[in-house]
Amino acid sequence: MSTQAPAPRPKVTVFTLHEKMAKGEKITMLTAYDYPLGLLEERAGIDIILVGDSMGMTVLGYETTLPVTMDEMVNHAAAVRRGAPSAFLIGDMPYMTYQPSVESAIRNAGRFMAEAGCDCVKLEGGSNVVDIIHGLVKATIPVMGHIGLTPQSLAQLGGFKAQGRTAETALQLIKDAKALEEAGVCSLLVEAVPEPVAGIIAQRSQVPVIGIGSGARCHGVCLIVHDMLGFFDRFTPRFVKKYADLNGVIGGALQAFKDDVAGGGFPAKEHNYGMPAAEMARLREMI
Ligand code: KIV
Repeated sequence: MSTQAPAPRPKVTVFTLHEKMAKGEKITMLTAYDYPLGLLEERAGIDIILVGDSMGMTVLGYETTLPVTMDEMVNHAAAVRRGAPSAFLIGDMPYMTYQPSVESAIRNAGRFMAEAGCDCVKLEGGSNVVDIIHGLVKATIPVMGHIGLTPQSLAQLGGFKAQGRTAETALQLIKDAKALEEAGVCSLLVEAVPEPVAGIIAQRSQVPVIGIGSGARCHGVCLIVHDMLGFFDRFTPRFVKKYADLNGVIGGALQAFKDDVAGGGFPAKEHNYGMPAAEMARLREMI
């Protein structure tokens, strides 16, 4: 893969996102956790790159997102930024880095901005996190809200399942979205919510609403990059469309390498470095 700097595009800012929303142009958002994917997403012109705490599951092999640390997130976000200088980069606040207090939220969110070059942070929750969002916005840190299926509350939600499927729970999501908007979020992620409910949230919103597993009526669409690239052959949620089969491609390549080496097909002549015959003759004398 080439590591040359990607062709520059205008920096994607919060104003770009609002402009796209106003013009009815769909906003694209994907996760990335490292330099190569940052580079490829930048080249593809993805608007928003989220360094999600889903990294705990997609990259670090944990069962949930909870064990991910702030240090890990900042390191990975900085690597993504090196690959994607103009995307709108969001750092996902890990579990218990903002819940304890406004002060903890500002300290940790500030690390994403200062150390990793993020444009924004994301945190999970509805009306229960408005004080934290107020505090962050007052400290000049842009925030994306995240409602619906919020994996950091898995124990309370009872597992990875769609949210807002009754009139009461849907109404609560609509109220939460308004509360977050009033608290000052610059955009909102709505995860695993029925399309009509996400549509109502988007329609009533003054800020861009991005859906993941929430249908096509939001201002933008997000997916976890490992899911849409088909990185794993295990279960993927029904809302994921696989645009590639990296599991097959990478698995096949690894197997081919193993077979090639075992069978003597690699390395071949064309992979070897040459040496002038005279130097080889001198070496033979020396040994
Ligand atoms: O951590 C993450 O990747 C997320 C997804 C919902 C996009 O928050």
